[in-house]
Amino acid sequence: AATRVTVIPGDGIGPDIMSATIRVLDALDCGLTYDYAIAGQTALDKGEDLVPQETLDLIEKNPVALKGPITTPVGKGFRSVNVTLRKHFDLFANLRPALSIPGVRSRYDNVDIVTIRENIEGIYSGEGQTVSDDGERAELRSVITRKESKRLMRFAYEAARRLNRRKVTVVHKANIMKSTSGLFLDVARSIAKEYDDIEHEEMIVDNCAMQLVMNPHRFDVIVTTNLFGDILSDLCAGLTGGLGLAPGANVGEHKGIFEAVHGSAPDIAGQNIANPTALMLGAAMMLEYLERNEDAERMRKAIRFVVGEGKVTTPDLGGKASTSEFTDEVIRNL
Ligand code: NAI
Ligand code: MG
Repeated sequence: AATRVTVIPGDGIGPDIMSATIRVLDALDCGLTYDYAIAGQTALDKGEDLVPQETLDLIEKNPVALKGPITTPVGKGFRSVNVTLRKHFDLFANLRPALSIPGVRSRYDNVDIVTIRENIEGIYSGEGQTVSDDGERAELRSVITRKESKRLMRFAYEAARRLNRRKVTVVHKANIMKSTSGLFLDVARSIAKEYDDIEHEEMIVDNCAMQLVMNPHRFDVIVTTNLFGDILSDLCAGLTGGLGLAPGANVGEHKGIFEAVHGSAPDIAGQNIANPTALMLGAAMMLEYLERNEDAERMRKAIRFVVGEGKVTTPDLGGKASTSEFTDEVIRNL
């Protein structure tokens, strides 16, 4: 049966990389149909809300959404579209695999790290932001709950099992943020006991950043709070060849929104030169979530082959190909 996907092309390079990705999905002929929706700057330009109700309804209706990068206007009282969607649909976990592609020039070969980031709590969720009238004092609240931390830890350990992983590293700053990070770590320790087939490791976030750069092969699955996960997953993307290659999945109990980790790249928007790989790999994660593993694998293989071979790649990877030429090549190799 056909599965309906809510498609949000997004801002900046979003439309370029989304049409490229949809072309590959169509070439796979895996029976997806699409409901197009808008958000972000594109929605504002059409006189709609940053996240129109119609968009929320379409995401609600379908099991999955594929989302291009969204520009959140700075300093106009708008809350980030991504944070809004994650909270609204209770997408509590963010899965960000960083997997080297043989042939891509980067600092290390064979990096294979999955970061699982708590997606709705903590300092990143932006609760309670105030600035005093004289502009001299600013405040932001961080809330961590046992309930949410438990749900995330279970998700992380289940994912580790499913993906045949051997170790989960819990990343925290409980030595300083004793209340919030301390609670997160406490929950991690208790859930880890339920999974004695998987090694449990604890690491303080600043040390983790250093270890990732010095010795990325020691890592397997990283699970951490929202802001730390935001930063460390970009670091991991950098280890494997950059943001143009890194996909992400926001998942809840009944829904997933799949995307690229990078933003709308206004500096190269509309030029048909953006690398669509990250969003394509996000679409492959979506196929996996829909249990279309064979299609996901076919798509991933073709992308990894073309990127690794390096003959037809976009400028960010040192190539000369346009977004559409790269996409044609991926389709030829499906
Ligand atoms: P960015 O990720 O858009 O760009 C950073 C650098 O990487 C730029 O030089 C850009 O050209 C390059 N780049 C990014 N994606 C690329 C691709 N697919 N192919 C080739 N080069 C690529 O980050 P930046 O500039 O900090 O943010 C721009 C806008 O994106 C902001 O409005 C920000 O809020 C938004 N953003 C949205 C995200 C989302 O919707 N998931 C995530 C991150 C930022
Ligand atoms: Mg980020």
